[in-house]
Amino acid sequence: MRSSIVIAGTAVVLAAGIALPAWSAGGQTDEVTFTKDIAPILQRSCQHCHRPDSIAPMSLLTYEEARPWARAIKQRTSLRRGRGAMPPWFIEKDIGIQRFKDDISLTEAEIAKIGKWADNGAPRGNPADLPPAKVFSDNSAWQIGTPDLILTSPAVQMKPINPDYWGALAPVPTGLTEDRYVAAMEIKEVNDSRNKPGRETVGGRFVFHHAVMSVNGPDGRPSGGAWPVHEVGRNADVFDTQAGKLLRAGSTVSFPSVHLHANGKETNAALQIGFKFHPVGYKPQIQSTLISFGTDDLDFPGGARVSQSAYMVLPQPLKLTVFEPHMHATGVRMCLDAINGSQVETLNCASYDHSWVKTYAYEEDAAPLLPRGTILKITGYFDNTPANKNVVDPRNWSGLGHRSIDNMLIMIAQGVYLTDEQFAQEVGKRRSELNLAEGQTAPGCPFCTFSKIPSRPTPPGAGPAVRPQ
Ligand code: HEC
Repeated sequence: MRSSIVIAGTAVVLAAGIALPAWSAGGQTDEVTFTKDIAPILQRSCQHCHRPDSIAPMSLLTYEEARPWARAIKQRTSLRRGRGAMPPWFIEKDIGIQRFKDDISLTEAEIAKIGKWADNGAPRGNPADLPPAKVFSDNSAWQIGTPDLILTSPAVQMKPINPDYWGALAPVPTGLTEDRYVAAMEIKEVNDSRNKPGRETVGGRFVFHHAVMSVNGPDGRPSGGAWPVHEVGRNADVFDTQAGKLLRAGSTVSFPSVHLHANGKETNAALQIGFKFHPVGYKPQIQSTLISFGTDDLDFPGGARVSQSAYMVLPQPLKLTVFEPHMHATGVRMCLDAINGSQVETLNCASYDHSWVKTYAYEEDAAPLLPRGTILKITGYFDNTPANKNVVDPRNWSGLGHRSIDNMLIMIAQGVYLTDEQFAQEVGKRRSELNLAEGQTAPGCPFCTFSKIPSRPTPPGAGPAVRPQ
């Protein structure tokens, strides 16, 4: 008798548990819900692309919009690397430095939550848990926030089927009446191909494969050093806070090398360049440099998986601020090693999908500090087999070339060359920021072990010494 009452009681509790949403019982539960767990992830890592008028195919702003995509969201986020992985951020998490600016990647816990949410029928959850909607400054969704200056390049037109085009675009005046220093910039393609039928891949949405940008002052002299190269799917550039780039009064922006690629739709397109400025009166302490190296020796038989390396010896101590792997359709991964004597450290590895040519800017206290004579080594991994869907015809041999179906292996990094004094200061600063004891080292900082920096002569083969600014 007694036990049957207990059973009946349990039954009542169970029924109530099923009938009512878990949150209405008055407390948080372990159930993964949209409002509590998924919305914050989408806001941080997805919505700047997945919203109306941005680049992704569907909006993920609301529960109603995200719900039908729950399975696809689980599938794409669980890929973690390579072609199709969402969000498009390809730094490998199990090796190398992990602290980057604007890192939109997901943690393993977040990927697991998304999986659980999709498997449990993608429940909405308690409306009260929903974080306030993320405010986007306007419909054009700049990652750098509302730019202080937006320039638009001359327009181009591409036929649906057309040979690739290489050439220059006419310069655009900045209209600046005073010198300004750029803190961050972003280039995006605006075009009318969005709603036309045709390919829905990232490449199908754009016609600018790349555009090299340069800036000239009113006297025609280059201004601000080397500027980032626009590439399809590339994210914004946030420069070292001490190394703002100069845009002089009366300067013009030009595009000396533009590569257009037909996307199967008649497309009218232009580039918009958004600049965020430092306040008036800002003065840079250091100047950043484009550090680009690679190899032309690329020889990939049809159906082969191949790796190839390229090297550079640092002529001066370097603070490496940006890691940017550049490959083409066959490229699937790049690793960057720093070799100091017999010590080899992998600074980073990133998978690669030629739909997304990503740039990765290190957090200020994580940027590698590399002594003079360090050998930088990149290793590219190429997949010329049918498993790599970016390759049009894997039966073909493939080698160096400008087209996406040809190959490149380049690291287009940015960094700051330092004098020995500046290097010692930076290493000292890093040691105190990270609270390092004597003998203790830090990722990407081989000399952080020493409280007194050993001096090192310029090694043979290092090329001409670069004059630190
Ligand atoms: C930098 C822009 C960008 C970000 C950030 C981004 N996406 Fe995407 N997403 C795209 C684009 C463009 C496509 C279409 C190309 C493709 O299918 O890969 C896409 C495709 C998808 C698809 C496949 C849609 C289909 O048609 O099957 C899913 C699912 C998806 N994204 C989910 C996400 C989620 C979840 C996040 C955040 C964790 C995210 N994305 C972050 C741009 C982005």
